[in-house]
Amino acid sequence: MNVRHCIKVDDFSKEEILDLFALASDLKSKYRNKEEFKPFANHSMAMIFAKPSARTRVSFETGFAWMGGHAIYLAPQDIGLGKRESAADLAQLFSRYNDLIMARVFSHQDILDFEEHATVPVINGLTDYNHPCQILTDIFTVWEEKKDSFDNLKIVYIGDGNNIVNSWVRLASVLPFEFVCVCPEGYSSDADTIKLANDVGISNVSVSHSLDSVHNADVIYTDVWASMGQKEEIDERIKIFSPFQVNSDLVKNAKDNYLFMHCLPAERGREVTDNVIDSDNSIVFEQAENRLHMQNAIMVTLHNKV
Ligand code: CP
Ligand code: NVA
Repeated sequence: MNVRHCIKVDDFSKEEILDLFALASDLKSKYRNKEEFKPFANHSMAMIFAKPSARTRVSFETGFAWMGGHAIYLAPQDIGLGKRESAADLAQLFSRYNDLIMARVFSHQDILDFEEHATVPVINGLTDYNHPCQILTDIFTVWEEKKDSFDNLKIVYIGDGNNIVNSWVRLASVLPFEFVCVCPEGYSSDADTIKLANDVGISNVSVSHSLDSVHNADVIYTDVWASMGQKEEIDERIKIFSPFQVNSDLVKNAKDNYLFMHCLPAERGREVTDNVIDSDNSIVFEQAENRLHMQNAIMVTLHNKV
């Protein structure tokens, strides 16, 4: 059986990502105009959450309902992933009940187990390693804003080299752009993933510990200093990451028309100041809205309902 999954951004080719942009644009205008679009009538989706979520849960549930389907939210205590039941058994179970499985988990191995054992499409809603729906949305949002210079962008991420960064780096193996991860020493993103992207050779991916790397940035992106699963480290991390705060001084080095992006939730006053996240350069809520439209496009594509 040839089932397609969305586990990492590079599960899609460049051509498929450009098709996703066109489809997400179309679905965005249909959704905003409250048009009828119900390719998932009589379909259901199991949504497994081992971690908290606002955007991922609400955007998937809202989008799938709009497309005629029924999405079932399963909270961490409902599933007890890895304790009450394994990902492999749950994948086989939900493949019998449901037409799609969306899962947000800690260990990346859990999503790989879902992928291996499911006979319906599996969508990765974030792991400790990556967050493909977020980064496919982010690049769609950049494309909407900067279509004219899309092939020649400098994207600078500042902060912790986390799951968001790994996804940007993987994207750089499919679409060409310059990507710099500016982080404190010891907090870089996954070295194997950076090597994978640079071996493909269509983009320039680098790690820097200098804020000078912000120079000429088209996009400045940041995320929390302690991700889900690391929150007890926050006091120590505040000391280490404070010089890497995105504030009005730092962004002066970027292009005048730079875009500020953040996957949200933001810890305002830590990784970003209010005067940056609330500035005219910030597109964080457009970015958050686009989760809905890009994920709808992903679900339609995986199910070949185009
Ligand atoms: N950006 C994102 O995935 O948000 P949630 O954690 O609220 O789902
Ligand atoms: N890096 C963050 C992203 C949240 C959407 C985390 O994993 O908590």
